[in-house]
Amino acid sequence: MMAGGNRGLVANVRAGNRSYLCLEPRELAEQRNILVTSALPYASGPLHLGHLVEYTQTDVWVRFQRMRGHRCIYVCASDAHGTPTMLRAEKEEISPEELVSEVAEKHRKDFEDYHISVDNYQTTHSPENKELTEEMYRRLKKAGHITQRVIKQAYDEKKNMFLPDRYVRGTCPVCSTPDQHGDSCENCSATYTPMDLKNPVSVVSGTTPSVRESEHFFFRLGDFDDELRSWVPGHVDGSMVNKLDEWFRAGLKDWDISRDAPYFGFEIPGESDKYFYVWFDAPIGYMASFLNLCRTSNLDLDFNEFWSNDERTELYHFIGKDIVYFHTLFWPAVLSGAGYRKPSGIFVHGFLTVDGQKMSKSRGTFIMASTYSKYLDPDYLRYYFAAKLSDAVDDIDLNLEDFVTRVNSDLVGKLVNIASRCAGFIHKLNKDQLADNLPNNTLFEEFSAAEKDIAAYYEARNYSKALRQIMALADRANQYIDKEKPWIQAKDSTQIEHVVRVCSLGINLFRTLMVYLKPVVPGLTKRAEEFLNVSPLVWSDAETPLVGHPVKQFKSLLERVDSKKVQAMVEDTRSDFSASTPLEDPNQKEDGLGEIDIELFSKIDLRVARIVKASLVEGADKLLKLQLDLGSEKRNVFSGIRSAYDPEDLDGRLVVVVANLKPRKMRFGTSQGMVLAGGPGGEDIYLLSPDSGAKPGMKVT
Ligand code: MSP
Ligand code: ZN
Repeated sequence: MMAGGNRGLVANVRAGNRSYLCLEPRELAEQRNILVTSALPYASGPLHLGHLVEYTQTDVWVRFQRMRGHRCIYVCASDAHGTPTMLRAEKEEISPEELVSEVAEKHRKDFEDYHISVDNYQTTHSPENKELTEEMYRRLKKAGHITQRVIKQAYDEKKNMFLPDRYVRGTCPVCSTPDQHGDSCENCSATYTPMDLKNPVSVVSGTTPSVRESEHFFFRLGDFDDELRSWVPGHVDGSMVNKLDEWFRAGLKDWDISRDAPYFGFEIPGESDKYFYVWFDAPIGYMASFLNLCRTSNLDLDFNEFWSNDERTELYHFIGKDIVYFHTLFWPAVLSGAGYRKPSGIFVHGFLTVDGQKMSKSRGTFIMASTYSKYLDPDYLRYYFAAKLSDAVDDIDLNLEDFVTRVNSDLVGKLVNIASRCAGFIHKLNKDQLADNLPNNTLFEEFSAAEKDIAAYYEARNYSKALRQIMALADRANQYIDKEKPWIQAKDSTQIEHVVRVCSLGINLFRTLMVYLKPVVPGLTKRAEEFLNVSPLVWSDAETPLVGHPVKQFKSLLERVDSKKVQAMVEDTRSDFSASTPLEDPNQKEDGLGEIDIELFSKIDLRVARIVKASLVEGADKLLKLQLDLGSEKRNVFSGIRSAYDPEDLDGRLVVVVANLKPRKMRFGTSQGMVLAGGPGGEDIYLLSPDSGAKPGMKVT
């Protein structure tokens, strides 16, 4: 759809409605009013680098719009509701509300650390969201878009709850692959319901689910078939058109928007024990976060300007490819059915892979946002992601080696180098003062003129092209300095004035590049602005040079990426997951462990051990302390089996231990290994035990 280069920059303004295909950079005088969202991360878990692809992509666009003088509001929130949040809270023995506010606080911190410039960050468990969700439902119901009927669903008799599809696993009814999710098979891609699985098991309790009936509420998506078919072109990335065609051809089915108690969510008004499905209230969370901002800030924002009317305002949602159906079909239909405006555009990106593969806990590549930022500057990652992002839905790969090379060569070697090569001479020869005139050449003007193309690339989310052009300019600047050789000319006292001019141009070129890179590397830009001694850079600063201006003394603006730190981050990630949790969270978009070869398996030192003494651990009601005899040595292991075993029943038992697991420091002492057990957790934990006759210390192979 949006062709590369300048060719695709067609103005496509539709009557009375601004379509995002309108890519011609607008006159700056014409101020746009734009509301932008990123998909709301689940409150059942922390942010990882995959999330940051999206938040970086959104933030770069938002910062670009603001630099151009537009009003661009960016809201997000943590997606609070649903079964995973409920179960995780239960496991941690806190209320779901507490869990949500704890996790949202961490999400907020990550947003801050990565310079994601949201104007508001709430959770969907907010009064505004409750109010809007109920209102939305009332309006849809009044307009006849809600219907109800009885459905059959898998039920966990032990936990007394209906089971979402993803919480039932079993053997695929089509190809007989074991251990598949309740909704689809990873091997043959068949889709089905949990009741179709052979040998279905509840992930929550490990028991076989039964089938129960319950009345559910449905949104009649089919009512919007025609409207959606004509809305999609021009509002959804062209690369998604085929997928959407497929969905239209399959027919738009009623959408189940209710769930039975126990459920963490908003109750459906006028019903008992019925809750709104998390995906119903989550996108309404976009509105709610904005409404909260309208009410609490002094930004003078009018909720209705943005949500009732698409004439004067624009609305864009940035999302990943896995949630396209929700955003391109359900969401616009719900908005329209309830009398609101539809989005101006849905921007879809692909998934992050690390070193060419899906992020994986076992490989140490399921990297949490907070783990990365412990070791490395978030600007590096923003730059690397931006250098790979375009308007396409392709997956993007973080190759850790390439990451180090690329960031060091582009940001440190090319960009910052320009300033550091020139600043010393300005300091020594002209007391930190830039020359009154630049040398007589057209370099500054050439840099300024690149503004149009670069802006068009940002506007179209073609960040990779923008950065390629910016780095080509950085090369030009370095070539200029190489040619002028100020370090040689400075030795000739008749050339001093010339050297000061050359280096002043160098600093000016650096400044123009910082204008263009500001949306991508806000931390570095801030330090550059301090060095340049200027107020925050705006886009139009690229037009006018800085002359006769005092700069500050140059300090290092950016350290090189140290590959040892990358290594340490990967190690840290691996150990994050070495203490595995039995309860799975289907929101974690990770692959399984995949196949391993015998070499990898043989690196695991499994040993027979005898429990000499088991005891309770004060302050840890899930753990037991096990003193183990491994034949030649004694060890202490803290094991999360308290919910299934009393310590006195364990003394003298034989178990299997992972003997070469990296020791883990805990509050109560160091755990020197792991005892093997099976089962989903809770009361259902089963220690593995060797047959009698086995001796402590024997190797298990
Ligand atoms: N809570 C829903 C979104 C509700 S929006 C009304 C959700 N949450 S999520 O935490 O799973 O994902 C949030 C966003 O991050 C989604 O757009 C998702 O596509 C994106 N990503 C999650 N993992 C990702 C990668 N590994 N790579 C790139 N983006 C990924 O979905
Ligand atoms: Zn199958």
